[in-house]
Amino acid sequence: MSTHAKRIFSGIQPTNGLTLGNYLGAMKRFVEIQEQDAEAIYCVVDLHAITQPQKRSDLLHNTRELTAAYLASGIDPSRSILFNQSGVAEHAELGWILGCTARVGWMNRMTQFKDKAGKNAEAVSLGLYSYPALMAADILLYHATHVPVGDDQKQHVELTRDIAMKFNNDFDAKDFFPIPEPLIDGPAPRVMSLRDASKKMSKSDPSDQSRINIRDDADTIVKKIKKATSDAEPLPSEEDGLKDRLAAKNLVSIYAALAGVSKADVLAEFGGQGFGVFKPKLAELAADSLAPISTKIAEYMDDPAEIDRILQDGAARARSIAAPILDQVYDIVGFLPRRK
Ligand code: AMP
Ligand code: TRP
Repeated sequence: MSTHAKRIFSGIQPTNGLTLGNYLGAMKRFVEIQEQDAEAIYCVVDLHAITQPQKRSDLLHNTRELTAAYLASGIDPSRSILFNQSGVAEHAELGWILGCTARVGWMNRMTQFKDKAGKNAEAVSLGLYSYPALMAADILLYHATHVPVGDDQKQHVELTRDIAMKFNNDFDAKDFFPIPEPLIDGPAPRVMSLRDASKKMSKSDPSDQSRINIRDDADTIVKKIKKATSDAEPLPSEEDGLKDRLAAKNLVSIYAALAGVSKADVLAEFGGQGFGVFKPKLAELAADSLAPISTKIAEYMDDPAEIDRILQDGAARARSIAAPILDQVYDIVGFLPRRK
């Protein structure tokens, strides 16, 4: 067992740019957790990114830009460990071992695989299919106890719990892997598309109008919010009134999450007003919240060598936690000791 009562691990894929969904559902929460003085490990999951084709130059750029976004959002590499996944080879090694613990029947239930593979399931990479076993390795390699994620990752964290329990049980290893808890408690665990509020806001949606990118400029943000799907009714004064109004609920949730208030607070202020009043206020809040982050990302991106240095330093610190845990896994499984 880890000697720490609470250890946080989470990761984001360096693909495309970050959306407001990633920011509100994940990144902003990561920063809040760091402020609560928890021991936190945050990862740029580049091994996960290559489950779908990536151009070399894009992967390099996106790895650095995501790191810049972590830093710009407030992750402090002297308090949290910030690193790229491929920098700690133990992830891939434990990923293989846990792939031998996970069952094909479990993987077949993963909805994200079905969504990503679509009708093309025979032609996608084997890595896309086995990816949740690697995600389990990311978490268990650090004996992490809590995993802050957006709602779409809940099933993968539940699978991680199943893998941990089966491993502990199969190898008679008692509570060697702690059973991690998902933390899905932010105000915006599922930010929806601005175009279709029944779909989540996603980096990979073909329509750029469906999302706000963390680096969009103020003009673009204003235009996207103006065009966002809404309805003709004024906003209700109580949350109950949002029940069957997905698009309205999404915009109110975004406002609440950005302002750091509850949806009830937003409705207390805007109840009875139409979208003609609410949307410009939301656009202003979004633009004002993201502008300083964009500026800082650009500053960090001016010095890629410094970003690389931060990641390498983070990887060394991550490895100092991961290596002894993988050593124990080798011993539990019955492999000869790893080379020191
Ligand atoms: P990804 O971009 O798929 O690597 O996701 C990184 C993190 O952002 C994960 O914790 C996701 O659950 C979270 N996330 C992605 N999209 C959204 C969204 N639309 N709303 C809330 N959280 C999200
Ligand atoms: N699968 C997550 C996503 O696509 C990213 C991820 C990889 C992750 N490893 C993780 C999240 C470990 C939390 C913990 O969003």
